[in-house]
Parts: sequence; C-alpha cells; structure tokens
Amino acid sequence: MAAQKIIIDTDPGIDDAMAIHQAFADSRLEVVGLTTIFGNVYLEQATRNSLWLVEHGAYECTVASGAENPIFQKMNIPSFHVHGKQGFGEMTEINPIRKADPRPAHIYLSETIRANTGQIILCPIGPLSNIANLLDYDPKITNHIKKLVIMGGAVHVPGNVTTYAEANFWNDPHAADKVLGANWEIDLIGLDVTSNIQFSLDVFAQGAKSSPRIGGFIRDISKFYIDFYKQVIGKPVCLMHDPAAILAITDPDIFTFQKEPLSVILKGEKVGNSFVSENLERRPVNVAVSVDAEAAQRQFLSIFSKADSAYKKRLNS
Ligand code: BDR
Ligand code: CA
Repeated sequence: MAAQKIIIDTDPGIDDAMAIHQAFADSRLEVVGLTTIFGNVYLEQATRNSLWLVEHGAYECTVASGAENPIFQKMNIPSFHVHGKQGFGEMTEINPIRKADPRPAHIYLSETIRANTGQIILCPIGPLSNIANLLDYDPKITNHIKKLVIMGGAVHVPGNVTTYAEANFWNDPHAADKVLGANWEIDLIGLDVTSNIQFSLDVFAQGAKSSPRIGGFIRDISKFYIDFYKQVIGKPVCLMHDPAAILAITDPDIFTFQKEPLSVILKGEKVGNSFVSENLERRPVNVAVSVDAEAAQRQFLSIFSKADSAYKKRLNS
C-alpha cells in the first residue's frame, strides 16, 4: 500500500520533535512538508528547529515558515519552562544550513494540498493560526484535503495552561474556533487522550538503544520535558501529546472516538476552552475520548527501533 502523505504544522518543541522523527521513521507515512508556527518557541526558532530536525534525519522535505502571531489576540509568551529556551531542552547549538521555502506556510499548504487533491492528511500540532490563514486565503481548500488530525483542546477534561484551556487552543483561540467550524473532516486528539500516554526515561532509553542517533537525541531532550512534568504531576514521566496525533493517523484502532460539534471560548476567564457546541450547523468532529496507552507505547518503540536503519538507507541512496 502507498504511504499516507502528511504535512505536519508544528512549533518544535520537545514533543513536536518526537512526533516529527516518529512520522519520518514510520514507513506507512510520507512526510511531504513541515509548516512552522509560534507556540512553544517564537516563529523564527520554530523554523530553525524544523530545519535542524530535517538535517538531523537527512529527510527530503519542504519546510515553510508560517504566522508570527495569532490571528486576532496578542501573542502569549512561549512555553520556555516546558521545552527549554530554544525548544529542545538544554540544547543550544541549533544552526541548520538548509533554508525554508520562500512561500509563507498558508500558500505552501494551499498549493501542495491542491496538487495532491484528496490525498493529504494535515496534522497540526501547534496553535492553529496557519490553518485559519489557509481557510481565509483558500476557502475551498476544504474540498481538497483528505482530513485533519489535530493535537489540541481538552473537551471532557481540564486544561493544561489554565483549568479550562489546552496550550495550542489557548495560544490562538480564534484560529481554533475557525478551524473547528469549517466543513472538513477532523480527528481531534486532545488532552482527553494525550494525558494518558505517559513515558518515563526508561522508554526513551530503549528507543536510544535500538536507534542511537534519532532515539538518542529524543532521549536526551526528553529529560528537560520529564523534569517539567515531575514538578507538575509529581511523577518522572512526560505526556506524549504530539506523538499521539501521529499515532492516531497510523494506528487509529488504539483510540476510541465520539462525534461532537465543537466551539472554542474566545475571551474571559475560560478563553481557549473547547466545548460541545449547541450550534448544530457545525460539522461534528471525531473527538478521541480514550486510548490504549500500553499499545501506544509498544507502537512508538517499534517505530523508533527502525529510525536509524531508515536514516542509514537515506544516506546511502
Ligand atoms: C501541546 O502544547 C505544546 O506545548 C505541545 O507541543 C503540544 O502540542 C500540548 O498542550
Ligand atoms: Ca506542539
């Protein structure tokens, strides 16, 4: 079977880096491009980090730089305390040689999705500003995309930046509401499931053993992320938000979904909150409500066990 084409819209970020390497290591996927967005770091750093990841894995892939700011509200301060000053924990040397595509992310997305009509799954794992800009620029794009698999929101559980809001939706609630209200198929992988996939350093150590280059990098940056979670939830584990979205594309059977129309609160104390909407004109979203966390861990490790052999193949091709 031909590999599923995907584009990842990302704000790398430690768990973004995990998700990106995971997607490239999985032969069931063809990662066509990465588009970048502010969030865990500022936009310029997100683009630099994406280019660095592409170089680190010797991947063939376009990187297009996206929005510097949310579509309406002022930008929140990036999550340096969660992901580190430059997004990859303590790492400081992030100097890629490659350059980003000259097109802004929303134009790159429109052209690439139209050129592959009905074939691309778009997987946003950061704030949804680029995707809202895409809808403004090319409203009919909804007819050309296969579907979206989004990491964001907290529908039936509390948030992670406030009691009400998950970080990606909180960082651009207007964009999140616009994207959830558009007429396209969406699988939403929110905190309802991602909070239940918790990995300890042991898991990353296993990944590093089988793939020292790619898995070793992931193990190294995971330490900072685990330290953050240790302070927040009192356990030495990290929550696998963005990798869960990639798993929902390759292994949807380990999740259960329920169809619900969703809206996002745009201001006030509950800003960024995603809730089941009474607006019946909204197309229902496939909301992930449970996950087999052990199967997720098994699958993640099996994918990473092939990461370095795939890297060597690319170098020799
Ligand atoms: C989401 O916010 C970011 O910090 C993570 O990379 C993930 O995309 C989790 O709320
Ligand atoms: Ca992210």
